[in-house]
Amino acid sequence: MLECLTTNSVAERTGNDEFLTDVLRGLSKTQKQLPCKYFYDRRGSQLFDAICEQPEYYVTRTELAIMREYAREMAFALGDGVTLIEFGSGSSIKTELLLNQLRRPAVYVPIDISGQHLEQTASRLRRTHPKTKVLPVIADFTQPFDLPRACPISTRRAVYFPGSTIGNFEPLAAFVLLKQIANTCGSGGALLIGIDLRKNVRVIEEAYNDAAGVTAEFNLNLLQHANNKLDAHFDLDNFSHRARYDTRHHRVDIRLVSQCRQRVHVNGIAFDFEKHETIHTEYSHKYSLVDFANLASHSGFQLRKFWTDSRRYFAVLYFVLGEDAHVASEEFER
Ligand code: TRP
Repeated sequence: MLECLTTNSVAERTGNDEFLTDVLRGLSKTQKQLPCKYFYDRRGSQLFDAICEQPEYYVTRTELAIMREYAREMAFALGDGVTLIEFGSGSSIKTELLLNQLRRPAVYVPIDISGQHLEQTASRLRRTHPKTKVLPVIADFTQPFDLPRACPISTRRAVYFPGSTIGNFEPLAAFVLLKQIANTCGSGGALLIGIDLRKNVRVIEEAYNDAAGVTAEFNLNLLQHANNKLDAHFDLDNFSHRARYDTRHHRVDIRLVSQCRQRVHVNGIAFDFEKHETIHTEYSHKYSLVDFANLASHSGFQLRKFWTDSRRYFAVLYFVLGEDAHVASEEFER
């Protein structure tokens, strides 16, 4: 028990050290920034779930509808008995729709940074899908990690990466991550990925500026998280949420804006803010099918099929690795 406590507190301290370093480094930049991975403390995760329920936030709802309608076709494309590896699995709701459609028992490897979330999900899936072998991995999927030893070598591997999370990476980082996915699934492997598509700017901006203010609270909670875990003294009333679509880079640019000239201390170090100076917290890139297929092709992925909703707000793309599949560009204009 004591040992366990010690281990936990050491883990927490190292975690906080990294958090502190990241905050100090981010705030020292000319364009201040804070890494988006710190959005997701307990409160942040609750707020993100609440964002997904907002009427303006079409992203989650649209992807789920696509999965409900086409999971059968997707499962057919992946093939029975596949090893399904999910990047950033969270509660795996969308994956269940896929697993339900795979006839021969598959192996499911959910990867998530939150061990607690992962264990809950794993035990739920073991109950609901007794024939599926569930092998969770606690890891930050942007860093190299090992697949469980119990993972079959001979079966086909498919990476499932839903939620348009790839859109939160800048193009170079997205390319690097796709390369890593390619290494994970190996030749003949597959990628099934959710992408938020380009659309009317107003629709996009409203999704990141919901009327109930949940996204604003989520963004500001990053400062609260720093106050709670570090010796940081942000006054949340002195910052406001801003999310604007940048049409040149095809991305939502999400920031916290200082409402006045102010000085904030973090770990005894003073950081000065001009009035209207911003802290950058997140990008959410929106792709066209052609542009994303192009990006993925640099990592060796060939687009085989995609599924979208009637408004073409979101798409789930199916890629295979290392085969010379050719997709005519007319496919995209259907
Ligand atoms: N992956 C989500 C997205 O890009 C995350 C997200 C939604 C988000 N709303 C946000 C991130 C607001 C930061 C701030 O749509």
